[in-house]
Order: sequence, then structure tokens, then C-alpha cells
Amino acid sequence: MTVRVNGADHEVVCDPDTPLLYVLRNDLGLVGAKFGCGLGLCGACNVLVDGHPVHSCDTPVWSVADKRVTTVEGLGDDGRPHRLQETFVEEQALQCGYCTAGMLVTAAALLEKEPDADEAGVRRALDGNLCRCGAHNRIVRAVLCARTCGA
Ligand code: FES
Repeated sequence: MTVRVNGADHEVVCDPDTPLLYVLRNDLGLVGAKFGCGLGLCGACNVLVDGHPVHSCDTPVWSVADKRVTTVEGLGDDGRPHRLQETFVEEQALQCGYCTAGMLVTAAALLEKEPDADEAGVRRALDGNLCRCGAHNRIVRAVLCARTCGA
């Protein structure tokens, strides 16, 4: 089947029920999204499907056949990071980094939909993304900064 990821079509040979996460990581070498819980509970595996965050660990690849998948690797432009990637660095919004890709794509979807999202909105949007290091406050700050600090 063909999957469209980060603007490019890829032919993959796999069981259609294979989780999207496995195809991204094992077949396409896009290892930004992480396997955390495998149950749709932590957000470490989040990617965007037609601009909406989904848990790629419990999304069968057949279900994205006619959709646009964006991973953290596809967030920025060629050679230029997404504004959120810059503010995550500026605000040191990570510790081990395991949750970061999921946080970034989820926050990017929020800001695309609600460029003026307030703190409560950011916290709501990231509610399903867990950070075991406890960097949540810095992560929220980074998202708010991406919203207000300009490019
Ligand atoms: Fe997919 Fe936790 S690994 S939600």
C-alpha cells in the first residue's frame, strides 16, 4: 500500500492492520514518534493525520491510506525547524525527550487551529500527552512562547 508521510508517497509491504507507528519507525526510518504504552494512553507515539493528532500505536496503517501523515520530522521546513522546536529548546521543555515528538505534533495541531490558544487551552490540548520527567510547566511555556514570540 501507499502511505503519504511528510509530503512524500511511500510504498510499504505489510499487514494492513500493522500499527502506523511500526511502519513509520521500522519501514520508513522515522523514529521521532516513540512507543510508550502501546495502548493509546500516553501520546508518545502521536503523529498528525490530516492535521489531527492520533496515537500511531493503535492506528492501523490501512486507515491512513488516503490521508496525510505528518511526523515530528516533517514539522519544520527544509533545514528550518518549526517555531515550536525552537521554543522547546529555548525553554528547555524536555528532560529525557521521550515524550517530545508527541508533544510537538500535538501542540503544532493546536496552534494551527487556535493560534491564540491560552494557557488553559494549551493544557487541555496536551492533557493526553504524558511526561514522566515532570517538564509539563516548561512544555506549556514553550507552546505559549511559540504562540506569542513570533518567528
Ligand atoms: Fe501510543 Fe502511548 S505509545 S499512546
